Amino acid sequence: MNHVLTTERLVLRPVAARDHAGLLAHWTTPEVRRFMFDGTVLTPEQVTSAIEDSLRGFATAGHGLWLIREAGGSDLAGTAGLRPLDDLGLEITYSLAPAVWGRGYATEAARAVVDHALGPLGLPEVLAEIDEGNAASVAVVVRLGMTPFAVVPGVLGPLVRYRRTR
Ligand SMILES: CC(C)(COP(=O)(O)OP(=O)(O)OC[C@H]1O[C@@H](n2cnc3c(N)ncnc32)[C@H](O)[C@@H]1OP(=O)(O)O)[C@@H](O)C(=O)NCCC(=O)NCCS
Repeated sequence: MNHVLTTERLVLRPVAARDHAGLLAHWTTPEVRRFMFDGTVLTPEQVTSAIEDSLRGFATAGHGLWLIREAGGSDLAGTAGLRPLDDLGLEITYSLAPAVWGRGYATEAARAVVDHALGPLGLPEVLAEIDEGNAASVAVVVRLGMTPFAVVPGVLGPLVRYRRTR
């Protein structure tokens, strides 16, 4: 299966070992980690594990973590991924470099991942879990047509769980 996803403006490709420095810089940016990792600063070892988990995931299940770039561009614009949410299924994750917020890239990238999950991967549904206070991220899943189905406690406050079924 081809794991590269393309959209009108973006190219999403599976992360690789060579992305380590870029991912570490991106994920430790304060605006990015605020909700993504409950504000914690990931260590280089955690980034290595994330890349290794993703490589294994693509090899065995066809999904993991994608690096987002603008079509024709070389800079890291963000990340999008699928990962297990407890034992409920797979949740979508995404982050953008603050320089490219407000252009619709997160929605465009996340839509490509959801379509990939519900289409070629054959999943029955895709989930999301979002801090109630992360308005920008809530707006993304609402634009994707995901609907809330549960609220669970989180480190920063309530987390709302969303789903979109096939
Ligand atoms: C969550 C996050 C990815 C959302 O980024 P975003 O730029 O707000 O989301 P989108 O890329 O979908 O862009 C939507 C905005 O672009 C605007 N936009 C501009 N041009 C657009 C276009 N051509 N197409 C679509 N939208 C466009 C939309 O109107 C919308 O603006 P608004 O916020 O004023 O309503 C970003 O805030 C982020 O990286 N946060 C840190 C990581 C994080 O919290 N991740 C989620 C964990 S659950």
